[in-house]
Amino acid sequence: MTDRRIDAKWWKSATIYQIYPSSFMDSNGDGIGDLPGILSKLGYVKSIGVDAVWISPFYKSPNKDQGYDISDYQMPDPSYGNMEDIEAIIKGCHDKGMKIIFDLVINHTSDQHRWFQESRKSKDNPYRKYYIWRPARYIDGERRPPTNWQATFGGSAWEWDEITQEYYLHAFVVEQPDLNWEDAEVRQAIYKEAILFWLEKGIDGFRVDVSSFYSKHEFVDAPIVKPEQYIQPAHYNYIDGPRLTEFLEEMQRETFSKYDSVTLAEMPGTRTLENKLEFVGESSKRFSMAISFDLATVDHNGHQNYYLWWKPYDLKEVKKITEAEQLLSGPNTDGWALTYLENHDQARSISRFMNDSPEYRVISGKTLAMYLLTLSGTPILYQGQEIGIINMPKEWPEEEYIDPMSWMFMQDVRDDIKKGVKGITEKEAFHSIQMIGRDHARVPMQWSNEKSAGFSTNEKTWMRVNTSYKEGINVAEEEKDENSVLNFYRRMLAFRKKHSDSIIFGEYRGVDPENEKIMQFYKTSFDGETLFVALNFSGSMQTISKPEGKAELLLSSSVDSGDQDTLQPYEGRIYRV
Ligand code: GLC
Ligand code: CA
Repeated sequence: MTDRRIDAKWWKSATIYQIYPSSFMDSNGDGIGDLPGILSKLGYVKSIGVDAVWISPFYKSPNKDQGYDISDYQMPDPSYGNMEDIEAIIKGCHDKGMKIIFDLVINHTSDQHRWFQESRKSKDNPYRKYYIWRPARYIDGERRPPTNWQATFGGSAWEWDEITQEYYLHAFVVEQPDLNWEDAEVRQAIYKEAILFWLEKGIDGFRVDVSSFYSKHEFVDAPIVKPEQYIQPAHYNYIDGPRLTEFLEEMQRETFSKYDSVTLAEMPGTRTLENKLEFVGESSKRFSMAISFDLATVDHNGHQNYYLWWKPYDLKEVKKITEAEQLLSGPNTDGWALTYLENHDQARSISRFMNDSPEYRVISGKTLAMYLLTLSGTPILYQGQEIGIINMPKEWPEEEYIDPMSWMFMQDVRDDIKKGVKGITEKEAFHSIQMIGRDHARVPMQWSNEKSAGFSTNEKTWMRVNTSYKEGINVAEEEKDENSVLNFYRRMLAFRKKHSDSIIFGEYRGVDPENEKIMQFYKTSFDGETLFVALNFSGSMQTISKPEGKAELLLSSSVDSGDQDTLQPYEGRIYRV
């Protein structure tokens, strides 16, 4: 048994707040969020009680995948601002006592990056080896991609390039060619260009995009599950290739470790504890923490990661996943958990996990805050989660869903239907994106009940503003209401710090794993305090298992928490036992 408080790094007791630049705050009225907008709101971010900020990509980008297609690693996109603006944010965070983390997207670049522009020119261009080029294969005289792999959001993972008459690989959209990590010189160029440059400017670490994708498996066909077509799902052909750990260790050694920086590695794929520890154990020397996908896909009808087929989640699964993740911060490992309910790739958690009707929205948001902030590990909050933002209105038409993952999913479903592939119906598909599409996270932040939710002076914003800002879901109104979701987050974050021995560094023990309505667990510190947490995920009253011994109610998410043993619909409580 180890006391996890010993030698704990700063990020173990930190809470991270994620900002999505295009939708946080627009300072110049062009309808797009920007860097000066972010700078102007750092005081607000600090006031929530978080310790670090993660900014999603603000680099130069043609926005084919909203900034995750980078055409220049060392320059902010002109629509967001310039180098001085980003430097002011680094300084602004530090002056306020917050750390600052950038997004690191190095599995692929944009096809507009100068490396790719060179690479596609000729087969003997010095940059040819920066990407993954392969000749066509011919089946019955017909030109076909080198393998049958489907790209993550749909379509072939190979794109034919007329100039040199070869295909290049792209795990995501066509305009995101994958970098060739097999080549040592390419890896060095990536480190220098994308990582060291910013560490040198004083940032505190990175969130590492799809970090399990760098090493590719052999280019052999994926198993055929849709006999009606050539292209086949190939998720497992991209992740965890044979040289992955070697690449990650090298990157850690040559970049992050030199600056003692934190790394949050996005790691798609279901993993065992042993496998997770290969990536995030202190002895593994790869990453600080990993963003796992288990909870994020609990309502994806058994589909991995990026497929949007929605099915209601099962609370028993949520408990299993939570417990498994908590083991990472337990006394018997050298890993550390990272927990989240939302990010720019997830729909809003109140709409997914609880009840977003006006009657239950507030208590739902608070109880989810209680769930997230009583777990061990490092939590990430996503902009707007702290004010209880909900999904886009159901009446909005399909055209409001502009994320490629949404429209490519709809396209894929329609194609399948045409070809007679058995599966989801069009109606179910649209309902799925209404529930779990990424667009819900990407609409503008709701600052006030004024025009465009106070996000912009412009009526026209790059994504339509969620009309719920008129129904009290906005920062200005929630500031004034002591019972708002926002003020509950503040209370919970202070509570978390005060009880850090049990909450952050304590051990998790779940009870009643079979219960489908409520979740209950103990958090016990190494040398003393035990807390008991009971969370009602259902719309009916629920009786809690009596905590062992004498129990003192410390906090409830309900303003009128009733009887000792009965939880109100969607209520959460914390007891000291
Ligand atoms: C990550 C990002 C997502 C992006 C993808 C490709 O999953 O979070 O937004 O589409 O990588 O870069
Ligand atoms: Ca702007």
